[in-house]
Amino acid sequence: MYYTTMMVSSSKIVFFVPMLLTILVALQVTNGEYKYEAFFPKVEVVIRNNMSGTPAGLHCKDKDHDDGFHRIDYGEAHTFSAMYVPLLGRALWFCRFKWGEFEFQRQYRYFDIFVQKRDLHICPAHCYWSINEYGPCRICETTFECYPWNDENNALNV
Ligand SMILES: *[C@@H]1O[C@H](CO)[C@@H](O)[C@H](O)[C@H]1NC(C)=O
Repeated sequence: MYYTTMMVSSSKIVFFVPMLLTILVALQVTNGEYKYEAFFPKVEVVIRNNMSGTPAGLHCKDKDHDDGFHRIDYGEAHTFSAMYVPLLGRALWFCRFKWGEFEFQRQYRYFDIFVQKRDLHICPAHCYWSINEYGPCRICETTFECYPWNDENNALNV
């Protein structure tokens, strides 16, 4: 008797989990915003300032979240969590970087720091980025891959 109950409940779970995921994805898609955020998986995005001459300011957002403004000195890092919807999601976090102490030295650069389609298969749990004047580099174990900054037209209002 006990056995039967166990079997029923485990088959219920097998049925329930995909259904729950479907509902969550549907909620996310129809409302265009994330509800029940605790259920969604997240990637930790780590951004380190690799510009020895200068601290850097950074400000990252996705369409529903704003990570705020942060300042990182040379060698330091800032970390935030980027939520995504498995398989169907199109999570996109974009950042503005700023450096240069005085107005006339000031530099602004833009980059899409987490793009679900581009990044999730490369760094499914932690994405490590290193910020250089010439562009951001993603660090994977012993190698790194550098990207160009977004062009100015892709500034996306950060
Ligand atoms: C960090 O900066 C140094 C000096 O410019 C450079 O040689 C190195 O490739 C950079 N590393 C990464 C991961 O961006």
